[in-house]
Amino acid sequence: MTRIAEGVFWVGAIDWTRRDFHGYSTHHGTTYNAYLVLDEKKALIDTVQSSHFPELVARVKEVLDPGEIDYLVSLHVEPDHSGSLAQVLALCPKAQVVTVERHGEQGLQRYFHQKLPLVTVKEGSTLSLGKRSLSFVPTPMLHWPDNMVAFLSPDAILFSSDAYGQHLATSARFDEQADLGLLMAEAAKYYATILLPFPAQVARALERTRALQPKVIAPSHGVMWRGHLPEILEAYGRWSRGETRPRALVVYDTMWHSTEAMALAVAEGIAQEGVEVGLHSLGSSDLSDIVGDLLEARALAVGSPLLNNNVLPRMAAFLTYLKGLRPRGKIGAAFGSFGWGGATAVKAIKEDLTLAGLEVLEDELAVRFSPTQEELQACRQLGQKLAQKIKG
Ligand code: FEO
Repeated sequence: MTRIAEGVFWVGAIDWTRRDFHGYSTHHGTTYNAYLVLDEKKALIDTVQSSHFPELVARVKEVLDPGEIDYLVSLHVEPDHSGSLAQVLALCPKAQVVTVERHGEQGLQRYFHQKLPLVTVKEGSTLSLGKRSLSFVPTPMLHWPDNMVAFLSPDAILFSSDAYGQHLATSARFDEQADLGLLMAEAAKYYATILLPFPAQVARALERTRALQPKVIAPSHGVMWRGHLPEILEAYGRWSRGETRPRALVVYDTMWHSTEAMALAVAEGIAQEGVEVGLHSLGSSDLSDIVGDLLEARALAVGSPLLNNNVLPRMAAFLTYLKGLRPRGKIGAAFGSFGWGGATAVKAIKEDLTLAGLEVLEDELAVRFSPTQEELQACRQLGQKLAQKIKG
């Protein structure tokens, strides 16, 4: 248990060993944050994934008998936060479950298939706890339709659910106790993989967050923001506006190292123009790391050889992921190698990059079997052109 303010506690769980979160690589584990507010009425805000139910209960019991809880506030239906709701309810016979009217009520019923003691709230609803109150703001698509945030007055603590979260297992509960570079990198990866498709909704939530003037932002994953509030709010502003910096990413897959040689030459061309470049092989980088890295990059060059008249399967997965995330304001380029027949993967890559929302260079850079020195020079020139476009 960690005290946040008088009568307000973190009682969540730390998942130190989790490395995969429905496909999202969590190299540093994660936390499932739950919070307890004590007043005349007692409220538990969120639960934890069911695997960590005993940890939650042990922390709650450090503060009070769970039977005293009056409200179980569910800010989000996703099972990493509501997964032990039924188990917690069994310990809290008088508790009512507070959920958002739109999508929350139905979502919980669909997950638990049992009659729950539900109280629904909506935009502007307030729940009095005594001297304190919780007011609710729905934040649809951050990251499911049912998400909402709760603001505790007068303490000015914003329980922000998925917004401002990071997948990071740590003994630090507050931002100033952790390495800020690591925090921001994990917050960026979290944003890129979870919130990137919803910039308008993020911008709206950010505006509301700023207006509330929170002293603490308590998300559902990772550390609480207290010492570095301006940094995380500024970063969310940047990301929601789709702001990028002069940086390009080269992402490729390869069969016999020909496309790899092309990728290295494209990257070299970008660097020759003085533009920062990063390079990922789909054989060694995972998709969520790549999109985290892509968040602030201004350009993306993608390469694949042709296999069975298509891109390589790992490249197909990357392009599918990209089309779902719809990054904004980026320039794209395509290249690749092929064997016989004359068809290349370049056309398919360009089509998918366009569908993902990138402005794609018209160049059709494809080489048969293995690139010659002249063809590698053409790859460098593609990199240079991309870099000039970034600078221009
Ligand atoms: Fe951590 Fe969308 O749940």
